[in-house]
Amino acid sequence: MKLLLLLLSFTALLQADRPLGLTSLTVELPETKLKGTGEVPEWLSGTLIRNGPALFNVGEKYVTHWFDGLAMLHSFRFNHGEVIYANRFLRTSAYETMVVDKSLDFAGFGQAGSKTETAFIPNANVNVARFANNLVALTEIPLPVIFDKSTLDTVGLFSYNDMLPKSKIWECAHPHYDAKSGDVINYQVQFFPEAKYVLYTMKKGSSVREVIAEIPVKQPAYMHSFAMTEKYLILVEFPLLINPQDLLKGGSFSSHYKWQAGKQMRILLVSREKQQLAGEFWADPVFAWHHINSYEEDGTLYIDMAAYEDATGFGYAPDLVDDPEHKLSARFVRYKVDLATKNVVKEALGSSIEMPRINYDRCNGKQYNFVYGYDDYGQLKGLKKRGLVKIDVRTKLLVSWSQDDCIAEEPVFVAKPDAKSEDDGVVLSVVLDTKAKTSFLLILDARKFTELGRVIAPHHIPYGLHGEFFPK
Ligand code: CO
Repeated sequence: MKLLLLLLSFTALLQADRPLGLTSLTVELPETKLKGTGEVPEWLSGTLIRNGPALFNVGEKYVTHWFDGLAMLHSFRFNHGEVIYANRFLRTSAYETMVVDKSLDFAGFGQAGSKTETAFIPNANVNVARFANNLVALTEIPLPVIFDKSTLDTVGLFSYNDMLPKSKIWECAHPHYDAKSGDVINYQVQFFPEAKYVLYTMKKGSSVREVIAEIPVKQPAYMHSFAMTEKYLILVEFPLLINPQDLLKGGSFSSHYKWQAGKQMRILLVSREKQQLAGEFWADPVFAWHHINSYEEDGTLYIDMAAYEDATGFGYAPDLVDDPEHKLSARFVRYKVDLATKNVVKEALGSSIEMPRINYDRCNGKQYNFVYGYDDYGQLKGLKKRGLVKIDVRTKLLVSWSQDDCIAEEPVFVAKPDAKSEDDGVVLSVVLDTKAKTSFLLILDARKFTELGRVIAPHHIPYGLHGEFFPK
């Protein structure tokens, strides 16, 4: 009995040492009406679904990296000024491994399993999207997982009806959408037998990927997202490269990528019309998880990203690192590519921004004014406060929202149905209140960047990754 108590208090100590945002949430709730303060706009109708890791431990053992926590979906359904919340783990083989078998023996982003070959499990905790009339949860190691929008129940794996390989590949969890056609545009990295980037489109409602272009590459780069304009698909090849054969040696996915100091960064342009490589440009390197937006104007291509000086932050576990001077924070960086002379100019705005979001439907691939994000990423260890920012990319003006002891997550912009300007709408962000030990959904007026209202969740919501608003 004494030993049991000792063990229990030791476990409690380990949990207590961890930031609240990296503490496991095991409760799953069916639709529950949330209470709050302020106003939930009457016009806001639809569901915000967020994805992220939520179970980080089996007993006293913890996953190596934040990204390796078990996928959980959270939904906030807006209905005539009411907000109804639900949350549920995805039921995949990752759930079987962690919850049923109580094992952490799997390969993930930072997690190394005991198997000799790096074999990935579909722990789809990165993003959500609509594929062929299904809602799917995405990770970079396929396949996508279909879930039910209202119950969040897992339906099964999404099967692509085509001949592209479905295993031993990497697939981008930030697909683009064509504003006119609704088609999905995305890319995958094939590692074997010869490595290549394969860009493809999936017509609206279809599950068949049609190849746009294939770009052979010796050592593929880690590119978490890419950019799309009306004419081009843009891959920014950061010098964070993998030797595909290393994937056969086992270990975690991230451990195989190496930053090549001194190497330039390659920008690849694929013509959407000609379906082929249309240009190759070289520039001083950065590393970024997230593109913000890209567009062309008078022969210049603008590529905006939330960028880091290098890939120091790529493989490390953000819950274990101290970064008091915020050197590991991403900043707004713009590359201007002169398409005629091939000259590339890097412009750093300096403002800290991560998890950037824009008014996508109206502005993706076009000139735009506003990006929303949170103002720090670098460390999760000891993180006390993280606010939201809105940057005017032309005037460089910045407005922000923050609250003591509160850590804000990715801000998702939702336009008003009859929007009169780019920022006419709201910004939705799940915020962790570390003092109250719970989370709330914050609703900001996107134009003024001031609070309209908030609703309080029944529990803390661990640090998530990405979410989408699906209109009714
Ligand atoms: Co991302």
